[in-house]
Amino acid sequence: MSRLLKFNIFRYNPEDTLSSPHMEEFVLEETDAMTLFIALNRIREEQDPSLQFDFCCRAGICGSCGMVINGRPGLACHTKTKDLPGEITLLPLPVFKLVGDLSVDTGSWFREMYTKTESWIHTDKEFDADALEERMDNKVAVGIYELERCVECGCCISACGTARLREDFLGAAALNRVARFLIDPRDQRTDSDYYEIIGNDMGIFGCMGLLACEDVCPKHLPLQNQLGFLRRKMGITSLKRIFRK
Ligand code: SF4
Ligand code: SF4
Ligand code: FES
Repeated sequence: MSRLLKFNIFRYNPEDTLSSPHMEEFVLEETDAMTLFIALNRIREEQDPSLQFDFCCRAGICGSCGMVINGRPGLACHTKTKDLPGEITLLPLPVFKLVGDLSVDTGSWFREMYTKTESWIHTDKEFDADALEERMDNKVAVGIYELERCVECGCCISACGTARLREDFLGAAALNRVARFLIDPRDQRTDSDYYEIIGNDMGIFGCMGLLACEDVCPKHLPLQNQLGFLRRKMGITSLKRIFRK
């Protein structure tokens, strides 16, 4: 006999002046291979069409289904109910602007962070559409690809103590993005240029290093390595800048 799952789901519509934040309970019979994606869609179809949550790919690729699942940020489409207890509490990811219920606006947050970190290749080389593609060392290309796997789900930001305390903290995803450009030989920025962006409490020196970010990252990005790499690089750059004065 399959389990009856009890869902406690955060409800609030900031657009509705009559709405106030509260938890609502839903009961659903568990089915084989049920994910939270399936469960939430069934609740919306069978019990409450007004329930808000985000999904797109259902395959851990689009990063839109991040939510706090029994206290831990994660992707709902990647979470099987069989791995959870019979009572499941779902909350929207903190730090991001709430759209409604479990839906948050991660897009604006990431756009702002990537603008702050100037997340694009900086080069004064003129683009030549007729030129042959430039070869890149295979190891370097693999290293860049590894960091490019971030799906911008926001789980690492929601799990981050510093991001919860200060809203201008760049967070692991943005710092990972900086590391991606730092190792890219096409980007002509110097360590000192990067220091201007992340050599402060808003950047790498605000990170407490407890690594909740890496623990919750559904794509298993090597965030610990990147944070350590940036901390060392920016520490050395800071000393160089002091002794140059
Ligand atoms: S290690 Fe740094 S970025 Fe990661 S969760 Fe902790 S404070 Fe945030
Ligand atoms: S680093 Fe991981 S947890 Fe953070 S936004 Fe990217 S995929 Fe999500
Ligand atoms: S729906 Fe795309 S990552 Fe979950």
